Amino acid sequence: MFSEEQERLKEQILQLKKEKDAVIFAHYYTRPEIQDIADFIGDSLALAQQATRVRANILIMCGVHFMGETMKILCPEKKVLVPDMAAGCSLADSCRAEDLAAFKAEHPDHMVVSYVNTTAEVKALTDVVVTSSNAKKIIDQLPAEQKIIFGPDYNLGSYINSVTGRNMLLWNGACHVHSRFSLEALLQLKKKYPGVKVLAHPECKAPILAQSDVIGSTKALLDYAIGSEEKQFIIATESGILHEMQKACPEKTFIPVPPEITEGVGCSCNECEYMRMNTLEKVYACLRDEQPEMIVNKETAAKAISSIERMLRMS
Ligand code: 13P
Ligand code: SF4
Repeated sequence: MFSEEQERLKEQILQLKKEKDAVIFAHYYTRPEIQDIADFIGDSLALAQQATRVRANILIMCGVHFMGETMKILCPEKKVLVPDMAAGCSLADSCRAEDLAAFKAEHPDHMVVSYVNTTAEVKALTDVVVTSSNAKKIIDQLPAEQKIIFGPDYNLGSYINSVTGRNMLLWNGACHVHSRFSLEALLQLKKKYPGVKVLAHPECKAPILAQSDVIGSTKALLDYAIGSEEKQFIIATESGILHEMQKACPEKTFIPVPPEITEGVGCSCNECEYMRMNTLEKVYACLRDEQPEMIVNKETAAKAISSIERMLRMS
């Protein structure tokens, strides 16, 4: 499945990783070959939790920028490396700290709950961070009368409003991958595979979620596929997760929902191009040169850490 060059690079990375006592973390949406060389693969919550538990001094975060930033904030004394600093996130980009600060000022009686897909500056303005794994659990622990601003993902926010009965004020941000799944294609798949369960990430739009049987984080969807007796699943999330699903359940079939085809808007696949910026070549160079290194402004990190630690305590 992998080229000779890829296999050679994998060997070199594993050797260098051992020599330098480095630990590689990868998100489920990264390329299969990156997941294969990782020590830990996880969703955003698991990666943040795991980072606080390892003893190694060099941590490599194969994911997107905000994941490396979160890791550095949680482990300030460690060297956190990211293979490509330009691997961003359209969702994090949809909420600028100055805009959130202005919105907060207009609603002084609201607390701010932010999705982990945000910059360190946004986390510094946040009372508690959540991920798709723990958002419901954390919101449920807040007093019923507490007014809440939730951002930046509008789809996740409305889903959490619907399952908690809250009326959080929602930021109008979205992930360009998850908001693009085609309802028409999903309905056709459901017709073609009657009775097959649909597993969706809560960043998908409401009409997609309304057609889904299981809604959860990447890890929750994976766990469901592993634990279920069923043999086929329709998947509405970034296609990188299929690698781990297929590896864990070789006898099962995973059918990805395609995105809407929009002329001139990125690619017409359900891949996050930012996650795919992590390549074996870049991981090797990053291990060898010990850069690019994630640096977070100390003042920002000092403010952001309380909202992240509060999330870890409430998870
Ligand atoms: P998870 O929290 O499920 O890992 O999702 C992160 C993400 O970026 C989804 O697009
Ligand atoms: Fe961000 Fe969407 Fe990529 Fe997740 S899939 S990292 S939310 S752009």
